[in-house]
Amino acid sequence: MSRHVIRPFEEADLRAAAGLLAQRHKDHRKRHPLLPAEYEDEQLALVEVTAVWESESASGAVLTKGDEVTGYLLAAPKTSPVWGPNIWVESAGHAVREPEHIRDLYAAAATKWVDDGRIAHYVLVPDDAELIDAWFRLGFGSQHAHAIQPALTTPLPPRDLVVRRAVREDIAVLAELDLVLPQHQGLSPVFSAGGMPTLEEALADWEESIDDQDYATFVAEYNGQVIGSSIGCSLEKSSSHTGLARPDNAGFLGFAAVLPAARGLGAGRALGEAVLQWSADTGYTSVVTDWRVTNLLSSRTWPRLGFRQTFHRLHRLIGY
Ligand SMILES: CC(C)(COP(=O)(O)OP(=O)(O)OC[C@H]1O[C@@H](n2cnc3c(N)ncnc32)[C@H](O)[C@@H]1OP(=O)(O)O)[C@@H](O)C(=O)NCCC(=O)NCCS
Repeated sequence: MSRHVIRPFEEADLRAAAGLLAQRHKDHRKRHPLLPAEYEDEQLALVEVTAVWESESASGAVLTKGDEVTGYLLAAPKTSPVWGPNIWVESAGHAVREPEHIRDLYAAAATKWVDDGRIAHYVLVPDDAELIDAWFRLGFGSQHAHAIQPALTTPLPPRDLVVRRAVREDIAVLAELDLVLPQHQGLSPVFSAGGMPTLEEALADWEESIDDQDYATFVAEYNGQVIGSSIGCSLEKSSSHTGLARPDNAGFLGFAAVLPAARGLGAGRALGEAVLQWSADTGYTSVVTDWRVTNLLSSRTWPRLGFRQTFHRLHRLIGY
């Protein structure tokens, strides 16, 4: 009887890896039919795995039984300093027949990553309970959610709220609202290290971009005062949703914030729904968004609007 063997990932493994990835994606699409259908095709899955393999400093492992590849794990570092000394497993970077085997693959591949000083590990995992459990038992925890729902027609906001498209006169409050998200996410329990623009930078940005037709900016007014904003655009504008995690013809709820004193009045819902309605009117099939799972506000608000989580970004920091 042949036994499982683990060895470093080689170029010759790409085709077998693509077969495993296409199967994983087929299973994933049974739960989320709005995810892109094309990656059920092994040829297109191959394009994605090849892209990971060809990323600078990519490395990983495969699991074989006899002549057959039964699992693989591939990762590469990102250059942005926000991720620390990192290694990233993207959505096309892993697939296994048996969820438990991801632990063997990680054990083999992570030696080099940590030897290279890459101690901040990230992985994008489909919402498969057994697979997530296996990653959790490697010391990973949940950091970020990717979610989707159909683009749809939404009810009008409550009578005391007005939601409308932003105009040039809103620039001052739009800039103020730009700081609200990073301010909130810098606090406990998110503790995000993401950068924060100055008010002057945010103002200059809005001066330049307010008329950009690629972005639909909405504001919510309460008693005649703007208290929140949201932005919708094509999902293609987002670098965080790529490959298997980028549904075809999707809109993107890319930003929303409500001033702290005005939260809980329904403005967040109304602003999110404005983007759902805009997406339906624009002809998008679905709408995608994402949030830090430690952000108690967004992680509670977006599921209430109907967003369902597709991928979990898990994170592990080694050494402490
Ligand atoms: C997220 C945010 C935009 C929501 O705006 P809001 O005006 O407070 O939200 P709403 O009052 O419209 O509530 C929306 C829904 O989420 C629920 N909700 C909101 N906050 C909640 C909380 N803390 N606990 C439980 N449910 C909550 C509401 O009950 C509501 O659901 P319902 O309409 O079915 O009753 C706002 O909290 C915010 O600006 N947070 C900081 C910045 C941020 O996180 N932006 C999102 C980035 S992804």
